[in-house]
Amino acid sequence: MILVTGGAGFIGANFVLDWLSHSNEPILTLDKLTYAGNVENLHSLQGDTRHTLVQGDIGDRDLVAQLLAQHQPRAVINFAAESHVDRSIHGPGDFIQTNIVGTFNLLEAVRGYWSGLPAADKAAFRFLHVSTDEVYGSLAKDDPAFTESSHIEPNSPYSASKAASDHLVRAWHHTYGLPVLTTNCSNNYGPYHFPEKLIPLLIVNSLAGKPLPVYGDGQQIRDWLYVKDHCSAIRRVLEAGRLGEVYNVGGWNEKANIDIVHTVCALLDELRPRADGRAYKEQITYVTDRPGHDRRYAIDARKLESELGWKPAETFETGIRKTVQWYLDNPQWVAHVQSGAYRDWVQKQYA
Ligand code: NAD
Ligand code: DAU
Repeated sequence: MILVTGGAGFIGANFVLDWLSHSNEPILTLDKLTYAGNVENLHSLQGDTRHTLVQGDIGDRDLVAQLLAQHQPRAVINFAAESHVDRSIHGPGDFIQTNIVGTFNLLEAVRGYWSGLPAADKAAFRFLHVSTDEVYGSLAKDDPAFTESSHIEPNSPYSASKAASDHLVRAWHHTYGLPVLTTNCSNNYGPYHFPEKLIPLLIVNSLAGKPLPVYGDGQQIRDWLYVKDHCSAIRRVLEAGRLGEVYNVGGWNEKANIDIVHTVCALLDELRPRADGRAYKEQITYVTDRPGHDRRYAIDARKLESELGWKPAETFETGIRKTVQWYLDNPQWVAHVQSGAYRDWVQKQYA
């Protein structure tokens, strides 16, 4: 079996669902269930004996040690993190605590378990750390895309905390021999994406007749990957990645934010036209820019492709259509995540 941390969040939940649709190998999910963790994301697994959810913190070393001893996983996949850049600007403390101190405690608990395994299990064990392209910093318009040897130059409290966690994972391999793998992925989108992030925020605000907030000039560039393609990349790296290596994951889909906004508006015009017959793009509102806003990210994923034969299955056009349709088909999920805590955040960030 495998242990997945942060498996009730956006990518983690997609990974758990995807894994169990490909394999019968059980999963133990450890998730603190912060505002971003949602048991409803795993609702379809209720009664499925292949899946167990435990509420807990990756920073709780005793709990993690006990779970490892009890369930004897062959791998740990670490998705657990505070993940939203804007929240890290308002309050970096939780990011330091979970992304750095939490990863440290998780590594120590895993090291304790792994060192006591019989030789064959020890050799087969893997710790896969899920990270982000944001650790590489920001690119100028004509710079080449980030490779695995690009400098680590994080610019936000979020990306700095993720970079620190990547360094810890690397050090635990070099110093203690822990069999680690790290993936650094570009911006994901797809089902179960919490509507504090750009694409789901655009969809839910459009449908609610609210402003579509575009930071600064809207010309910042992100490299978008459909979440299920990220999941397939992680499965592939877990299966065949070389120990201690870093693999960049991306979809070669660089888009300016304003183009993303127009694409989502056009899809909604087609799939769920406004009652008054007007265009959703009329709701676009330019707002104050994010402090320290990275201008451009782009991922060079050729190492993953050439070494492990991975390629994304979705283009941006197919993936974004599926995503918009998923939000239209799941209004209850949207209504449930827009709790009081969500409204407080929107008020704080966009007031
Ligand atoms: P998310 O915020 O949607 O989910 C994070 C999950 O981790 C939640 O379920 C939350 O409850 C859980 N969690 C938080 N703190 C925890 C703790 N201390 N102990 C246990 N669980 C805890 O994030 P996401 O977008 O699904 O991202 C998952 C991982 O992928 C993160 O490590 C993130 O840095 C990385 N990543 C995200 C993207 C992206 O575009 N979203 C891209 C590349 C990498
Ligand atoms: O690159 C990978 C990263 O992508 C992950 O590591 C992060 O966890 C994930 O949140 C994401 O970070 P971004 O900051 O790129 O994502 P976000 O959806 O917050 O913003 C995408 C772009 O859209 C960014 O340039 C900021 C802009 N934006 C965002 C919001 C929420 C707006 O213009 N308006 C908004 O209201």
